[in-house]
Amino acid sequence: MRNKIIAGNWKMYKSNPEATKLVKEILNEVKNISKTGIIVCPPFTALNIVSDTVKNSNIKVGAQNIYWEKSGAYTGEISGEMILSTGATYVIIGHSERRQLFGETDATVNKKIKTALQIGLKPIVCFGETLEQREAGVTKELIGQQIELAFKGLNKTEASKLIIAYEPVWAIGTGKTATPEQAQDVHAFIRDELGIIYGTELASKMIIQYGGSVKPGNAKELLSCKDIDGALVGGACLEASSFAEIIKIAENI
Ligand code: PGA
Repeated sequence: MRNKIIAGNWKMYKSNPEATKLVKEILNEVKNISKTGIIVCPPFTALNIVSDTVKNSNIKVGAQNIYWEKSGAYTGEISGEMILSTGATYVIIGHSERRQLFGETDATVNKKIKTALQIGLKPIVCFGETLEQREAGVTKELIGQQIELAFKGLNKTEASKLIIAYEPVWAIGTGKTATPEQAQDVHAFIRDELGIIYGTELASKMIIQYGGSVKPGNAKELLSCKDIDGALVGGACLEASSFAEIIKIAENI
C-alpha cells in the first residue's frame, strides 16, 4: 500500500516572518499525523528558517526549483548543495509555471532531476497538459512524451526516489479541478507508462500526486481514487487550517 504524501507549494508567497508563523501553525495542526507524508516548499529565502522550525517533526521541506550546475558564475541561480545545506530534502522540478513563464523544457527538467538525485535531494516532478492540449485530445500523448524525455537516462534506483505530480495546467490556480475520473484516468496512464519503462513492480510503488486547485472540499474524492497518492497543493497551502485539513483527509482515507 502506498501512503499518501501531501506537499504544499508556497510559490512566491511568505516573507521570513510570515513563513515562520505559517509553518508553526501547520506543525501545531499536524502533530498527530503518522501515516501521511507532509512536505512544505517555501521560497528559497525561507528554506533555512522553515527547516530549523520543523526539525525532528513529521514535516519535510522542499525547494521549488534547482539549477543543474554545481557552482559557478550563474547569477541568481541556486545549486542543489545550497538547497541541501538549508535542511531541505525535496525539490519541485518542472512545475508548469516554470515551464510557461521561465522557459523550462523537458530537457532542462531532465538535467535538474539528475542533479538533484546526485546531491541526494528527492525530486517532485510535475507533468500536465494545457486546456488546448486537452481539448485537442492529446493529453496522454503529451504526458507520455514529457515522462520519456524528463526521465531519460534514469535507472530504476533513481526512478524509485521520485515523486510525480500530475498537474493539469488548466486547473492550477483557476479554481477548476479535474474531476476524480479525469484525474484517475491520467494517473493510471502515468503508472502504466512507468510500468513500461521501469517494470510494474516499481511502478506500483511510485507516488503520483494530483495538483490543481486541491482544497478541503474536493480532497476526499480526489484522494480516494486508486492511483492518486497525494496532492501538490498551491493556494490552499497558504493557510495552515486548509492545508492541515487536506492532510487529515488523506490520513483518514
Ligand atoms: P493550486 O496550485 O492548488 O493553487 O491550483 C497547485 C500547484 O501549482 O502546484
